[in-house]
Amino acid sequence: MKRNIAVLQGDGIGKEVTRGAVEILEAVAQRYGHEFDFQYGDIGGGAIDLTGSPLPDETVKICKNSDAVLLGAVGGPKWDDQPAHLRPERGLLKIRKDLNLYANIRPISYYSSLSESSPLKKEFIEDVDFVIVRELTGGLYFGTPSERVERDGEEAVVDTLFYQKSEMKRILELAFALASDRKKKVTSVDKANVLESSRMWRETAEEVSNDYPDVTLEHMLVDNAAMQLIKNPKQFDIIVTENMFGDILSDEASVLTGSLGMLPSASISTQGPNLYEPIHGSAPDIAGKNLANPIGTILSAASMLRLSFGLEDEAHAVEQAVETVLEYGLRTGDIANGQPEITSTSEMISEIKASLLDQEAISNIMGAYA
Ligand code: IPM
Ligand code: MG
Repeated sequence: MKRNIAVLQGDGIGKEVTRGAVEILEAVAQRYGHEFDFQYGDIGGGAIDLTGSPLPDETVKICKNSDAVLLGAVGGPKWDDQPAHLRPERGLLKIRKDLNLYANIRPISYYSSLSESSPLKKEFIEDVDFVIVRELTGGLYFGTPSERVERDGEEAVVDTLFYQKSEMKRILELAFALASDRKKKVTSVDKANVLESSRMWRETAEEVSNDYPDVTLEHMLVDNAAMQLIKNPKQFDIIVTENMFGDILSDEASVLTGSLGMLPSASISTQGPNLYEPIHGSAPDIAGKNLANPIGTILSAASMLRLSFGLEDEAHAVEQAVETVLEYGLRTGDIANGQPEITSTSEMISEIKASLLDQEAISNIMGAYA
């Protein structure tokens, strides 16, 4: 199989972690006889410094001509004081809009080897396995007007929460389709006791659920959902919600199973390439120090193999390689949990690669030390 992959490294640790994912994709190509071509584009603060724009047209072109996009992370203190249109995050929001990436899928799964890194006790977290489906191109993030105004003679501000019914319908349909293949439960999160947009969201969820008689639909208010995620995360299968609620809940959920650094995400397009990125940010404090955890990005590359290229065996082999090195005890700082020996980014990448290229040999070595 021959595929073009756009790589947007971005800022901070973005470069180090995407380099890792590219190395792993190259190893997959080698082991399974595929050809992956990588085209690099600028995004975020680095792109502002180079071109004056957080998302140059050239980058959008590279992405549109690709079969899938891999992204690192954007942002950093250097650009914090810029006006809104010149902030690195703008690049991320614009690429989501330009590629119609309407759904962000964030799986939260339990790794037994990392149970000590979770802030929750093991019995609460064991076997947690759910997916957050976040609407990504609507709501408060994109509504207009979004501006400073004057009201009653004083400074005021307006942000707009706008959704079309069709935008709600397509993300809810995706959530139900995912649930059909899993534990057949959708938790739709809203604030229907206050917001009109949430009441329409709830109605739409009910309508879509009619087409999925074997999937159970429950509605949950967002404040309660924030509490239930900590109190009893095992109850969830698919959580589906609008853009802003999804942003907040997915960061909360991401630490349940250990570390933000572990988690991948996939952003699904209505048409054209999907985009794959880790959930974590650009972590400027550790950038360039060979300390970042590359696993979130490597698992995002595995999702790319599965969802964009239909390469299930290859995706599984990458996930297996990650699990193997974790079981073996390799730990970057974020998942070290006090363990004295810290694995560097580059060492983690090369061990995952070695495991991928020779899974049998590694399991023999591990067997010998067991
Ligand atoms: C995320 C991030 C972004 C968001 C920021 C960087 C604009 O927090 O992908 O969750 O809010 O969507
Ligand atoms: Mg976020």
